[in-house]
Amino acid sequence: MGHEASAGSGTVWGTEDRGQRFPALARDELADVVVVGAGIAGLSVARELARAGRRVAVLERHVVGAGVTGHTTAKVSVLQGARLAALGRRHGEQTAAAFVESQTAAMLHVADVVRRLGVDCDLEERPAYLFSEDVEDLTTLHDEAAAARRLGLPARFTHDTGLPFPTVGGVQVEDQLQFHPLRYLDALTDDLLAHGGRIWEGTTVTGLEERGRPAVRTADGHRVRAEHTVVATHFPLFDRSLLFARMHTSREFAVAGPVAERDAPHGMYISAGSDTRSLRTAPHDGGGRLLIATGAPFTPGAADARARLDDLVDWFTSHTAVERVEHVWAAQDNFTPDGLPFIGPLHPRTSRVWVATGFGGWGMTNGALAGTLLRDHIEGHPPPWADVYHPRRLKLAPEAQSATRAALRTVRGWAGARIAARVRDVDDVTAVRPGEAAVVSDKGGTWATHRDEDGTLHCVSAVCTHMGCLVAFNDVERTWECPCHGSRFGVDGQVLQGPATAPLQPRPGD
Ligand SMILES: Cc1cc2nc3c(=O)[nH]c(=O)nc-3n(C[C@H](O)[C@H](O)[C@H](O)COP(=O)(O)OP(=O)(O)OC[C@H]3O[C@@H](n4cnc5c(N)ncnc54)[C@H](O)[C@@H]3O)c2cc1C
Ligand code: FES
Repeated sequence: MGHEASAGSGTVWGTEDRGQRFPALARDELADVVVVGAGIAGLSVARELARAGRRVAVLERHVVGAGVTGHTTAKVSVLQGARLAALGRRHGEQTAAAFVESQTAAMLHVADVVRRLGVDCDLEERPAYLFSEDVEDLTTLHDEAAAARRLGLPARFTHDTGLPFPTVGGVQVEDQLQFHPLRYLDALTDDLLAHGGRIWEGTTVTGLEERGRPAVRTADGHRVRAEHTVVATHFPLFDRSLLFARMHTSREFAVAGPVAERDAPHGMYISAGSDTRSLRTAPHDGGGRLLIATGAPFTPGAADARARLDDLVDWFTSHTAVERVEHVWAAQDNFTPDGLPFIGPLHPRTSRVWVATGFGGWGMTNGALAGTLLRDHIEGHPPPWADVYHPRRLKLAPEAQSATRAALRTVRGWAGARIAARVRDVDDVTAVRPGEAAVVSDKGGTWATHRDEDGTLHCVSAVCTHMGCLVAFNDVERTWECPCHGSRFGVDGQVLQGPATAPLQPRPGD
């Protein structure tokens, strides 16, 4: 399980079946721009810069699309939950207007890429809806409809959402998009190669050298030197300006199954409130449509992952006419305190190292936007609204500083309390029974311990190799997960997802 781990039969996009297409980096290289990470953000930036004439090198730990982009639901929408009204309240109408303008441009850019390259990626134009089953959300819905209209979107409040269950109504925005994310990525890849770009897969970046001509260093000891470095690793691999402390990671399950054409809701949907539910359909080879639902978010490593999945499956099967659940998987995204991504310089002293992260569940438009925005930064002519996405903007807002402090307190409190309880559960690794997992203090260390159904004991350090938080067990995916920044490890300690790059070390003597 080398990829972002799946929970069950895998995604509807065929993510788990993708093999390595490009070799691993086997010597030092030179480039104008090195991009770390081949998800939608990294490949969008890479392709834009290659088309602008730069020599681009992409380094990917697994394979193209193996990260969150291969596990997304791929709605390309400017209606992103109840974000627009909140942005207006927090940042003012000018920022909200810049957000809508830039997100709309990113969505149209995706459509333009598909058309120009003739990409067969099931691009479909659909209305997007923000809906609720709860009358208490009515004000939120009306506020969002009003904000969206004020900002120039074709939005309205409607009772006719097309959903197959009762709602109190929804905000509808016409002419949004959905597609097959991996076919889109493959087209970006081919176009990147056609413009002289190079890709190395199976190549983990572990270091960044900023003095002189900057370089990234790989786990195998090779370097790629380049004028510019783009960190597009989802959670940023490097932190030189406390980005880590200013984001939180939320994981959720996704489920999908066939539905008859007449029972398939025609739009793309997301619910208001924090316990979100999202729905869309996709073409289905066996006729009818595939209905895809996500939701039931949790912090990586939360003890109730199984209950969260059960909640989602119950909701999906009771609220829709889905015939059976054929696909189950999980993925996570990163959230900033003020609802806007971080796309810009990695830290205040650089004009050569760039980052794109914090997409808050909306990385399709934001990944495409990162492509054009970082291209324009690197080419020296950023658009007038570039500061809306600037990673340092939060320094200016006192409320954002307190949000950061609150986020830090929450992570520390949550991790400390719950993990301490688990450490007390078992005080000897041999007490862990088949199928069980526990964090155990023993032999002078703290061990993430899991015993297979066949009785084999896996015992690795429970201290996350990123920044030292304790990992906790996800009993659905059978992975060790770090609540602090979302690193994920197999039961053998291997890294499945960063920001960690080093495995959890085995217990001496095991
Ligand atoms: C369940 C779910 C549903 C979603 N649905 C939608 C949706 O409908 N619409 C929408 O707009 N957004 C959606 N999102 C959000 C969206 O999928 C993400 O924001 C987006 O895919 C992130 O893209 P990325 O390129 O930043 O990250 P990724 O796709 O994860 O790419 C990062 C890449 O970097 C690589 N990497 C990491 N570390 C290293 C390293 N050290 N060295 C080399 N390579 C490295 C990884 O292997 C990975 O391939 C959803 C998210 C979730 C969790
Ligand atoms: S992911 Fe940062 S400490 Fe574990």
